[in-house]
Amino acid sequence: MTEAQLHPVQPEWKERALIDDATYRAWYETSVRDPEAFWNKHGQRIDWSKPFTKVKNTSFDGDVSIRWFEDGETNVAANCIDRHLAERGDQVAIIWEGDDPKDDRKITYREMHDQVCRLSNVLKENGVEKGDRVTIYMPMIPEAAYAMLACARIGAVHSVVFGGFSPDALAGRIVDCQSTFLITADEGLRGGKTIPLKDNADKALDIATRQGVTVRSVVVVKRTGNSVGWVEGRDLWYHDAVEKASPDCPAEAMNAEDPLFILYTSGSTGKPKGVLHTTGGYLVYAAMTHEYVFDYHDGDIYWCTADVGWVTGHSYIVYGPLANGATTLMFEGVPNYPDQSRFWKIIDKHQVNIFYTAPTALRALMGAGDRYVTSSSRKSLKVLGSVGEPINPEAWEWYYKVVGDSRVPIVDTWWQTETGGILITPLPGATDLKAGSATRPFFGVQPQLVDAEGGVLEGAADGNLCIVDSWPGQMRTVYGDHERFVQTYFSTYPGKYFTGDGCRRDADGYYWITGRVDDVLNVSGHRMGTAEVESALVSHDKVSEAAVVGYPHDVKGQGIYCYVTLMNGVEPTDALRKELVAHVRREIGAIASPDKIQFSPGLPKTRSGKIMRRILRKIAEDDYGALGDTSTLADPAVVDDLVSNRQNKK
Ligand code: PRX
Repeated sequence: MTEAQLHPVQPEWKERALIDDATYRAWYETSVRDPEAFWNKHGQRIDWSKPFTKVKNTSFDGDVSIRWFEDGETNVAANCIDRHLAERGDQVAIIWEGDDPKDDRKITYREMHDQVCRLSNVLKENGVEKGDRVTIYMPMIPEAAYAMLACARIGAVHSVVFGGFSPDALAGRIVDCQSTFLITADEGLRGGKTIPLKDNADKALDIATRQGVTVRSVVVVKRTGNSVGWVEGRDLWYHDAVEKASPDCPAEAMNAEDPLFILYTSGSTGKPKGVLHTTGGYLVYAAMTHEYVFDYHDGDIYWCTADVGWVTGHSYIVYGPLANGATTLMFEGVPNYPDQSRFWKIIDKHQVNIFYTAPTALRALMGAGDRYVTSSSRKSLKVLGSVGEPINPEAWEWYYKVVGDSRVPIVDTWWQTETGGILITPLPGATDLKAGSATRPFFGVQPQLVDAEGGVLEGAADGNLCIVDSWPGQMRTVYGDHERFVQTYFSTYPGKYFTGDGCRRDADGYYWITGRVDDVLNVSGHRMGTAEVESALVSHDKVSEAAVVGYPHDVKGQGIYCYVTLMNGVEPTDALRKELVAHVRREIGAIASPDKIQFSPGLPKTRSGKIMRRILRKIAEDDYGALGDTSTLADPAVVDDLVSNRQNKK
């Protein structure tokens, strides 16, 4: 691989930068040499109602225990709202840009305080107590942020479920954390189309009830005003309830290690895991990374295009920016509605300074042609960010040259739901950039590359990415299943957190994430287990077996390739193919739509019955020359059949 072109820090950044290269190096050195002292200092960036005296108490060995600031008390909502009121009560906290370009709203910190306190009281009046789990299934409207903050204010644990998930997926998440309260909306609106959130929620609640978990109350925000089903005594309209509620609600004092939220994410096996994040360390880390990674200055207008249903929305739309008293833009719509210039028009309309998006969106917009971009000014931009999947150098260079006019640094931020915040990233005023590299670790983060046997690789190397010591934003456990937490992340390489990602370190010590090395797909920046798609497929009564792999896709990064064995006597037809795609969408959601379905009478298995995915991946990638050793297969002829069918496919 040829070395990427270096984009050095531009001279004007010397004045703006919060962190320059010398500061980065000095802080990083202290952060790993003396984490106690480093985090003792930076832990003070949030307000504590009871100051902590202990900083770090973490172990990646044995039963794995992670505690930060463990005797401190604080409240996340008070840090994100109340403490800003004196100085910036009238500053805009949230700029909301609706799906329709004519719809927008600006909400000040004082207004947000009023709304969050009222909603907190609604939750309390309806029996939600500290520690209870509240599910949030919402479109991208300010009420989604209020809902999260209201939970945080009273000590309830929120579980936000992405609005694109199906009733089944929502039900599974409600049942897993035994949530008894739901906040949703009548419908969502994206790209001019409605999404039947309340209808999906009603279906999900029926499923959950059948599985023994009954949601007592449902608060419904009126977004579109279209009629929806209603269960008297269970459902209440958000606006009625909030209007009647008192605007006075003291923030609950929470221990630093009290749970803040659960967020479900896919792993390589089985059902999604409830990633649990706690209060103090999470907020310190989200706020600190938001400030330094984006070189956030007071008054900057900041926009992250993620959905609050993903961790990026949690840490970098809501908690990080609001803890820093920023103005955070929340966008309801999609990048190509009404047309492909929507992002750039919003940047000009609201004078956005910091813009954070995903490579998949960039690749799609790049394909639409430069004129959609160049017809806008984008002069307000100071920092561009990328997240969610590896950014290919072509997309990076396009982002840099066309969107940023070769003057705006790009921060390619690598992290995960589990890490709570950004772990490997450039800092705009400190790091010389290379297209496609997430570059260097953030303060306190100690990456290590290991080979398959766990041998530590030094210098320039290619291996599996581990992190050897804890940072405050790290997940604490899998909700309700600590054993699964230990097993998933700390057993492959004992004593280390294993990320599931492959990674290369170059001669300059820069990190290049190469993608997942487990059975997790990254489709348009959405994370998905192949096992989830497989179990959705086999739940169809005409399917006897399924194996799912990823393959390179120009826009999505990875596409979903499914090998499906049908029940005896079932005809493989195009109609059935469509039916199976619809079935998976119903079971999981549109993000899991199979891109290709190949009907395969047999799958390549070892004599002990294990499916050889390596071979399936190669066939899906069109890489027949490299099928490797097939002699251990129970029936090697299966492979020829798969290849010839693949070649016949469009
Ligand atoms: O494979 C990595 C990829 O996304 C995975 C984490 O997905 P999720 O938990 O959904 O969080 C996404 C938002 C943080 C990682 O294991 N990934 C994320 N960011 C990058 C990335 N891969 C390469 N470069 C990135 N900047």
